[in-house]
Amino acid sequence: MDFPTTRMRRYRKNAKIREVMRETKLNIEDLIYPLYAAEDIKDGEPQEIKTMPGQFRYSINDCVEYAKELESKGLKMVIVFGIPSPEKKDEIASPAYAKTGIVQRTVRKLKEETDLVIITDVCLCQYTSHGHCGMIKESDDHDAGIEILNDESLEYIAKTALSHAEAGADIVAPSDMMDGRISAIRELLDENGYYNTMIMSYSVKFASSFYAPFREAADSAPCAGDRKSYQMDPANAREAVREAELDIVEGTDFLMVKPALPYLDIVKTLKEDFNLPLVAYNVSGEYSMLVAGIEKGYLTEDSIMESLLSIKRAGADMIITYFVPQIIDKL
Ligand code: PBG
Repeated sequence: MDFPTTRMRRYRKNAKIREVMRETKLNIEDLIYPLYAAEDIKDGEPQEIKTMPGQFRYSINDCVEYAKELESKGLKMVIVFGIPSPEKKDEIASPAYAKTGIVQRTVRKLKEETDLVIITDVCLCQYTSHGHCGMIKESDDHDAGIEILNDESLEYIAKTALSHAEAGADIVAPSDMMDGRISAIRELLDENGYYNTMIMSYSVKFASSFYAPFREAADSAPCAGDRKSYQMDPANAREAVREAELDIVEGTDFLMVKPALPYLDIVKTLKEDFNLPLVAYNVSGEYSMLVAGIEKGYLTEDSIMESLLSIKRAGADMIITYFVPQIIDKL
């Protein structure tokens, strides 16, 4: 049947009709809020991240207080990022797996004082003096510059994940993109009795310019070279499927695509190809871009909900997003 028998505008006649016809809805249970806990920040003096207006680095106590406030409004999940004192950073990322590390202490307190599902970002780049996500050495290959060592890094990444699990993390989320890290983490967790700690692999993480505001927030930009030898080439979609397949074989409990908006085709493909819960990371640059547009008056606040909805519509079951404070009262 075609026009005039069929009229698509019937579905859009008024707000009530549109509401019941809506195919995709954003729920508070879908959202994961990133929390930045910083060792050098004092209680009562949260520091606004210049490149991400409305987002703050908190002391441990304030981080937990803010998490409680969001929890009281319905939030279920947070992902914790740690920012250690710069003078503690070293070549082997010691503060990443210290029992008294910033993430470990924050997680313990969150566990004591909230019922949130706690995810931790497992990476070495905020903790290494050189800012890379693994151990490094000067490369023999002139074209490669610094070499980021894969196999040597696994032990440190797994140790970090274990120390997060010991502190009480429900889910550890490795974001380093080394090969073999999921099985290294799974093995070490299981050996230590943490067989119920879940792994949320950043399975498909692209070498993206949309992380720029995060690197300012977490002070984790590499001092030399870039991350292109471990994070994926933005041009590749089939390779993304292989990355996901390998993580599944190694035992990940979730798949993730990061960033989200420029990679919705990948989100859709992974949703169709696999049956694992799928997470999309609406990264710092995606946040800052809209916030800047809204502040300038070029965009309206509605652009936030529209972009989050598009990520869900593409197939994400969960979305990590900095926009939680802006939208939590609207869900
Ligand atoms: C660390 C890490 C990054 C992000 C999450 N974990 C940055 C990077 O790879 O440089 C990005 C988060 C964001 O941009 O919101 N490996």
